[in-house]
Amino acid sequence: MLKLDQHPTGRHFLQIPGPSPVPDRILRAMSLPTIDHRGPEFGPLGLKLIAGLQQVFKTRHPVAIYPASGTGAWEAALVNTLSPGDAVLMYEGGQFATLWQKMALRLGLRPEFLSLPGTCAETGLPLSWRRGVQADLIAQRLRADAGHAIKAVCVVHNETSTGVTSDIAAVRRAITAAQHPALLIVDTISGLASADYRHDEWGVDVTVSGSQKGLMLPPGISFNALSPRALEAARSAKLPRSFWAWDEIVEMNKTGYWPYTPSTNLLYGLHEALEMVLGPDGQGLDATFARHQRWAAGVRAAVNAWGLPIQCADAAVHSPVLTGVVTPVGVDADALRRLIHTRFDLSLGTGLGKLKGRMFRMGHLGDSNDLTLLAMVAGVEMGLKLAGIATRGSGVQAAMDHFSAHAA
Ligand SMILES: Cc1ncc(COP(=O)(O)O)c(C=O)c1O
Repeated sequence: MLKLDQHPTGRHFLQIPGPSPVPDRILRAMSLPTIDHRGPEFGPLGLKLIAGLQQVFKTRHPVAIYPASGTGAWEAALVNTLSPGDAVLMYEGGQFATLWQKMALRLGLRPEFLSLPGTCAETGLPLSWRRGVQADLIAQRLRADAGHAIKAVCVVHNETSTGVTSDIAAVRRAITAAQHPALLIVDTISGLASADYRHDEWGVDVTVSGSQKGLMLPPGISFNALSPRALEAARSAKLPRSFWAWDEIVEMNKTGYWPYTPSTNLLYGLHEALEMVLGPDGQGLDATFARHQRWAAGVRAAVNAWGLPIQCADAAVHSPVLTGVVTPVGVDADALRRLIHTRFDLSLGTGLGKLKGRMFRMGHLGDSNDLTLLAMVAGVEMGLKLAGIATRGSGVQAAMDHFSAHAA
């Protein structure tokens, strides 16, 4: 058993759904000397980073980079576009959607939290946390808002607390079908550079993301991808903002600089991450998405072999980034996680909010490969056995079969 004061041998398996392991290439890039953020070398770097991010978000419009975690970029999206007392339509798909809704309340907005009513018969857990955003519910609510009081629709693309990825194009179609002018604001903090995402094509007005997931960077920088409508809304929005204000950032970014000191060394890391994700020819994103889908299918094969429920109950919207595994009633998922961490030096994601103690999350994102994921599956399988949790069959065997049968 590992003691806290002992340094474990071998490497730690960080299999939470972000922060994800940071590749050596990125760590090395970040270790370069910090330079003058107002000097002549910085502008070209800034311009290159923004151009690379535009490719990742699939947008032709500005992308703001904040020296902040994803929560900062959430706040930036709201305070730049909205005014005190504005109604916003948010969708309860899990814990991150819940936290964003709480933030909206704290900012003096009037969030309405749509959800799918009921609990799931199999697990006793809320149905809304097992399925994707229901675009038809959004369309219905917007149609009833004849006076256009609702100023924005806010949804989470990849709900990291559940492992459900929602159909953002369907949400845009719902807004269009209702002929409603609300802005579409999307959180893809854990989806970017792992799950297919198209800011311009899907008609998203603000996309919020962060560094520590698919981009394989440490936590600490986050993003707002903008649309012309979002920039227009920012001109009349009245929520107080200074640090988050887009106007100065977007203006200074035109020459590759920032109004305040950017996170220079994290930006070196971002430069390396963009090279890795986009590839030498800029065509790497599709391969990245396919890789994540393949990994996710292998991990789901393991969970299905164990006979444990997967939190996402709709096969069409399984997350390529993580898989949420529901433990049997009466089994504390956090005690199982602790056991696995202590015995095998493997970190799994905890159950959050309404799923606390009922679920653990297996991350399969970023700097990973088949054998890393097999090690995670093996650690979980040994933990289940040690905890006396009955399984139907071997998840390790199922994952090996999947990865060997499906070439990368
Ligand atoms: C979907 C989603 N939204 C928001 C956040 C909050 O981001 P941060 O913890 O970087 O502030 C996270 C963090 O994991 C997330 O996964």
